[in-house]
Amino acid sequence: MIDVKELLVNETATLKDALMQLDKTGQGILFLINVKGEFIRTITDGDLRRLILSGHGIESNLNHLSKQQSKFLTHTATEKDAFQLMQKYELDHIPVLDNQNRPIRLIHRREIPQSILLSTPHIGDFEQQYVAEAFATNWIAPLGPNVDAFEREIAEYLNVPTAAALSSGTAAIHLALVLLNVGPNDRVFCSSFTFVASANPILYQGATPVFIDSEPTSWNMSPKALERALKEADAEGQLPKAVIVVNLYGQSADMDPLKALCDSYGVPIVEDAAESLGATYKNKASGTFGHIGIYSFNGNKIITTSGGGMLVAQDPEIVERARFLSTQSRDPAPHYQHSCVGYNYRMSNVLAGIGRGQLKVLDERVKARRDIYAAYTKEFSEYDSVNMMPEASYGRSTHWLSALILDPEKTDLKPKQLIDHLFQRNIEARHVWKPMHLQPIFSNAQYYSHELDFSVSDYLFNHAVCLPSGSNMTAQDITRVIAVSGEILTKELA
Ligand SMILES: Cc1ncc(COP(=O)(O)O)c(C=O)c1O
Repeated sequence: MIDVKELLVNETATLKDALMQLDKTGQGILFLINVKGEFIRTITDGDLRRLILSGHGIESNLNHLSKQQSKFLTHTATEKDAFQLMQKYELDHIPVLDNQNRPIRLIHRREIPQSILLSTPHIGDFEQQYVAEAFATNWIAPLGPNVDAFEREIAEYLNVPTAAALSSGTAAIHLALVLLNVGPNDRVFCSSFTFVASANPILYQGATPVFIDSEPTSWNMSPKALERALKEADAEGQLPKAVIVVNLYGQSADMDPLKALCDSYGVPIVEDAAESLGATYKNKASGTFGHIGIYSFNGNKIITTSGGGMLVAQDPEIVERARFLSTQSRDPAPHYQHSCVGYNYRMSNVLAGIGRGQLKVLDERVKARRDIYAAYTKEFSEYDSVNMMPEASYGRSTHWLSALILDPEKTDLKPKQLIDHLFQRNIEARHVWKPMHLQPIFSNAQYYSHELDFSVSDYLFNHAVCLPSGSNMTAQDITRVIAVSGEILTKELA
């Protein structure tokens, strides 16, 4: 690292002095200071060239430079601050000043580790080819050969008869509720520990959500809580029209007991597998156990179409009806004729091309995310206070997101402290989903906790954190997340 003193140039120096100093130090930057040593501005080759071009001789004084305010950081700034400033102003280097405004350090962009994000798109080798075909054949529409092929290929992957490609996972959940005739005055049970997109379509249909807690072994819907909820609903003559079971963070819910309960009351399941494409439950594809299953291809998912969704069912008529509803419910007539409400929910042929390319690498993406989880599990096992999200023995999780729990019995460290610490070092971690029964929008909704006196999802929300899990993370990225987390975990232990 260069001694910052070599970069200091006094405002009384000449252009020639500065050029020679720039040449000698080879950093491409100098710091102009006043007699008190206080920072005035940065000087680059370009600044000196512009001075010469504006008619100043080589012996001219540097105080002819404009008094522009160069960007700088104070000595308390973090890597994150440096990265953000560099991104915002497209800078390659920034001076750091002490509390008397004297330069103490030069930070180069190359010294700042790239940011590590939670889960970013990971494009493979084939997507562009399918997208190019869509352009070449002018199939730039919410129908076309890529849509048909993507549906066929995903149905084959999942081992279901057929699938309907839609504009989003949320659209797929909405259509699932429409297909099950959910309407005003109906109740729909839904996992509480999920993203709001699982529950919003209940409101689109004017129905009433009832939230069901998770169980601790999979973090997914608790059969115990569901049983209580169904029993009570039955006694009140208010059984739900559907139960939305969510498979969280790449792991299937324990479908057998959930299905047995729903079957015994004659209530269909909508399986929200937005986060669990590629996972299995008892050797069968996750998302294929409900009456209707849905997937998401949002940009952060294990494979993406930038935005998109899929609806599957064992009954091909349901899927055909979903295609009909998703294209404005157009009756088979020579003119535009409509007998029921329709939606514009079909996937575009261009995006289906991305999906086809992504599907080819799904198994690789699953392996990469599982490897990340394995690395976190191994390295964090050295901290007594940290437990990873468990993998239930009945299936294979994709570990779409790796999450850890900070055991409150063993540490006072809170999720926010860990998240903030990682953020300061340019690493994105997030709180786990805030349960739906704690959301202001659902403050009046009924809720069934796992135990009468213990809510698993409240506990997880208070103590768990999602770590970066993208399949395009490098080995160094994973090591960095572990090391930077270790800084605060170790401190906590000390
Ligand atoms: C559990 C869950 N359900 C539904 C969705 C909605 O999917 P989309 O974003 O494709 O609408 C998501 C993700 O976004 C999700 O995580």
